[in-house]
Amino acid sequence: MIDFKEKIAVLLEAQTEGISIDDIRAMIEIPADSKLGDYAFPCFRLAKVMRKAPALIAAGIAESLQGNDLFSKVENVNAYVNFFLAREAYVKEVVEAVNAEKEQFGGSSLGEGKKVIVEFSSPNIAKPFHIGHIRSTVIGNSIYKLYNFLGYDTVRVNHLGDYGTQFGKMITAYRRWGSEEDVKREPIKTLLSYYVKFHEEAEQDPALEDEARATFTKLENGEEEEVRLWQWFRDESLKEFTRVYKMLGIEFDSYAGESFYSDKMDRVVQMMEDKGLLKESDGAQIVDLSEYNMAPALIKKSDGSTLYITRDLAAAIYRKEHYDFYKNLYVVASQQNLHFQQWFKILELMGFEWAEDCVHIPFGLVSLEDGTMSTRQGRVVFLEDVLNRAVEKTREIIIEKNVNTDNIDVTAKQVGIGAVMFQELSNGKIKDYVFSWDKVLNFDGETGPYVQYTHARAASVLRNGGASAEAALADAGALDVSYICGDAAYELARLIYKFPAVVVEAAKKYEPSIVTRHVVDVAQAFNKFYHDEHILTDNESEKRAKLLLTYAAKQTIKNGLGLLGIEAPERM
Ligand code: ARG
Repeated sequence: MIDFKEKIAVLLEAQTEGISIDDIRAMIEIPADSKLGDYAFPCFRLAKVMRKAPALIAAGIAESLQGNDLFSKVENVNAYVNFFLAREAYVKEVVEAVNAEKEQFGGSSLGEGKKVIVEFSSPNIAKPFHIGHIRSTVIGNSIYKLYNFLGYDTVRVNHLGDYGTQFGKMITAYRRWGSEEDVKREPIKTLLSYYVKFHEEAEQDPALEDEARATFTKLENGEEEEVRLWQWFRDESLKEFTRVYKMLGIEFDSYAGESFYSDKMDRVVQMMEDKGLLKESDGAQIVDLSEYNMAPALIKKSDGSTLYITRDLAAAIYRKEHYDFYKNLYVVASQQNLHFQQWFKILELMGFEWAEDCVHIPFGLVSLEDGTMSTRQGRVVFLEDVLNRAVEKTREIIIEKNVNTDNIDVTAKQVGIGAVMFQELSNGKIKDYVFSWDKVLNFDGETGPYVQYTHARAASVLRNGGASAEAALADAGALDVSYICGDAAYELARLIYKFPAVVVEAAKKYEPSIVTRHVVDVAQAFNKFYHDEHILTDNESEKRAKLLLTYAAKQTIKNGLGLLGIEAPERM
């Protein structure tokens, strides 16, 4: 698409003195109120160099640009030059671009040849996959989609928590009290109950702890029986996780979790040793980070076992060697801020310049309306249950509202799950938020169902447009766009035009909610256009032009929802 801002910058460069085009670009604003133009340029900074009052400079610029056919109007209001684009050329550019690029609209090849690893979700094996995990899962998936859409070579990694001393406990508990059948029937809940029982019993019988430690050592040494049980727990847990990922439409390229690094840590510890970073403390190996105002990082326990942080160090080094990443992103809760700060610092101290390409993308807590979750008090809400409930509730709403659908099961799934994901991605990610059913499933608020419904409405208009819609898309260049230059149509076109920039901004800031917000704006603008204008009129040229704009709005919403990982049903 034509970069109108750039065109204006070039024109301004010719009209000003003593200011670079980069500065001009940075100074051009997009007024929030379109009555002040599509773009505006403040002249305050020019006063010194040009030795003139800012308002005079602005007037001079406006004067010299009269008659330029890029604009319908250029005027100055005090020190500002306000640019009003010629609507026809602008709207034509927008609808033709969407029609040409279709599902690619908004994407680019900005990131070509650059590898970006997005690590997200990363639940712990044999522990509940609960509502708290939804954030990393859904935000991470969207960040992956954003980078992918911008042409980066992306790798989705699920850094499973599948290693550590707790597996010694779990194997011990299973051997004492376990039942194969129970684990098979309900793996996570059953394994969790063993874990809980282990802790209860160990209070009476401390020997259990020793047994668990010995068992973990056997696992680390690769003893067949321990490895077999651990592998089985892992497989069963993964089956449950995969079921949820499938419901969410999420996939991974790699499940290299913590256990994957079990044989890669010695080398890393040795590297730290060689750099003189390790210090002994009560038999354990630590890195003193007091100089950086951080607690010391425990790298190796006195019994020789490694830790979560050791595996993160090994994983980053492995990823650099294996993928040679441009960026290595971690979508992990803000509770782990210190952990990431610590090991990023250690990488830096180890002399890895690429440490700065590792980015922690933190997010806030999700809580439930009736108070926060607590695993200890048994108030765990399984993500799968939430998703199922969303689908069930949506099905009830569909029946109650008499929503038009040809397959209620499919629609209930698309809308119910889409609604939960949309809510996750609606708030700035760092904010804590409260999960609310009323907000999630509201068809009228700024919600997933509202946006999906708008998309389906546009689809229905296009279906009803029939041959005229087909003709409009087939020969977009020949349409008379003067019919789509009214205020409602123009506002809609402006928002569509902005979409590619929104995608870039959301990726740069690791903030999918910027896309969510924009998709809501486009949906609202389309609904206004739909109400203000009669789309399927008898005037064939008018109808075609309006159908093309309808198509552009629909495609933009669909592409936006796609970046959030949400489906866009054709009917509902
Ligand atoms: N398994 C961890 C948890 O559930 C999250 C892992 C985050 N990723 C990482 N590379 N440390 O808390």
